[in-house]
Amino acid sequence: MHSGAVFRPGFLLTTSDFTKKNDQDQAGGLTAVSKSFVELNNVRLRYSEGDDLALETTNMKIGKGEFIAVVGPSGCGKSSLLKLVSGLMPPSEGTVIVDNKEVAGPLKIVGMAFQNPTLLPWRTTLDNVLLPMEIVKPHRNRLRKNRAEYEERARKLLASVGLEGHEDKYPWELSGGMQQRASLCRSLIHEPDLLMLDEPFGALDAFTREELWDILQNLWMVRPFTVILVTHDLREAAYLADTIYVMSKRPGKILVERENPLPRPRDQEATFTQPFTDLVHELRSHIRDVRES
Ligand SMILES: Nc1ncnc2c1ncn2[C@@H]1O[C@H](COP(=O)(O)OP(=O)(O)OP(=O)(O)O)[C@@H](O)[C@H]1O
Ligand SMILES: [Mg+2]
Repeated sequence: MHSGAVFRPGFLLTTSDFTKKNDQDQAGGLTAVSKSFVELNNVRLRYSEGDDLALETTNMKIGKGEFIAVVGPSGCGKSSLLKLVSGLMPPSEGTVIVDNKEVAGPLKIVGMAFQNPTLLPWRTTLDNVLLPMEIVKPHRNRLRKNRAEYEERARKLLASVGLEGHEDKYPWELSGGMQQRASLCRSLIHEPDLLMLDEPFGALDAFTREELWDILQNLWMVRPFTVILVTHDLREAAYLADTIYVMSKRPGKILVERENPLPRPRDQEATFTQPFTDLVHELRSHIRDVRES
């Protein structure tokens, strides 16, 4: 479908970019991946004193540049996990370590995108994408002086997700899929080392969602940031992630850690292959067990 790679017309990325990433992986990138970038050590979370636990003892190690997905029933603590890793909430017990430092407050190396694109309606697409540059240090101190350079970066990023020509439109002039692409650009504009995605494609139709899988895979293969993707869509987890974690019902804990054997880059044809459908079946049976437990 994509001539052996996920290159799509109109994007800035080329197949050689993928080769670069693959070479890197084989020639030493894996060493970086095996290094632990995010660590949860015996983490438990209780929202208030006297409440039941939201997260039961959780241990996780995520390598630098690794793409992981977390799946599990509603209310099991997936979004809570993201709040802990991004520093929006401290654990009740245990430690969260990111890049060798214990997380003690909101991290600035994080980009986030949610189910609802949450673009500001009074800002153009370009200005929405530039928003983190007004907030995150050191960019906010440089924005006035380097405005042209930052705008150029935002335009390139928008073009890479197929939004060239839409920079000056307001969010209400964009389709849901276009808004979600802009939201992805906003989460990546400050080149975060860690990207947190909470059901980012959940509100989109199946075709748009699958198109965005490719867009995200493209972005990630060119610049290897670490990704934690929360999703209810098992096909999405199988398409995008290197490792898939299945969580139990509340109080959530990790029940299964499954490496994804599918080679990259993955394309839509891969979703019809036996290894892909086997993986999705396996995940589905884990989720069934969790729901029946
Ligand atoms: N701010 C809060 N105060 C108190 N309890 C909360 C708060 N946020 C979440 N919870 C509770 O913690 C548990 C885990 O919530 P969380 O939002 O992490 O679940 P989730 O797995 O993301 O669910 P969903 O798939 O529906 O988004 C839920 O039982 C929820 O009610
Ligand atoms: Mg949630």
